[in-house]
Amino acid sequence: MKVSASFLSSKNIPEDLAKLNNTDVDYIHVDIMDGKFVPNKTMPFREMRHIYEYTSKRLDVHLMVKEPSKYIPLYAELNTEYITFHVEVEEDILKDLELIKSYSIKCGLAISPDTKVNALIPYLPYLDYILVMSVYPGKGGQEFIENTESKLEEVKALLDSYKIKAVVSVDGGIDNKTKDKCNKADILVSGSYIINSENFQEKISSLR
Ligand code: DX5
Ligand code: ZN
Repeated sequence: MKVSASFLSSKNIPEDLAKLNNTDVDYIHVDIMDGKFVPNKTMPFREMRHIYEYTSKRLDVHLMVKEPSKYIPLYAELNTEYITFHVEVEEDILKDLELIKSYSIKCGLAISPDTKVNALIPYLPYLDYILVMSVYPGKGGQEFIENTESKLEEVKALLDSYKIKAVVSVDGGIDNKTKDKCNKADILVSGSYIINSENFQEKISSLR
């Protein structure tokens, strides 16, 4: 199992990113919030761009924003493997997926807990990545939503029936117990479980 570490709950981002760099974590999950798509707001790009100074890991960027097209060109500048935005946005989704691909970056769609997996169908042929939210987007440290297990099964079944090979990740409330409900995923995104601990590598290993 691959692990992507979210630093949304970090009190000292440079220090925690430096510590994560000494682990075998696969990706750094970068949560971006605009105060519109979700009530909270993360730091502006001019501050966030400095994260590349503290990590050599590839980034897994999760845009929880109303207008992904404004953010995609910014985050495409960094050492980014995936850029993901939400299927619930009102912008032209295909256009935004094309925009991500125009930078040779893998594109993904995130799906919030109350959205039906069928919402992904029109975009399946374009997707490299699907991020299933196991909490409501907006903040770290929330409790894992139990029916995520069946949602992951639905997403996998959908990918099989359309013969699509997208990577599936699950994000929110993941720890060494809830991970057992995520066997169908390829990547686990975990924040507070890793960041609020003394030994990052031990927690990362416990998720694999
Ligand atoms: C929630 C974010 C998640 C979250 C993960 O809005 O998208 O990435 O920070 O953190 P934990 O593991 O604390 O739920
Ligand atoms: Zn996230």
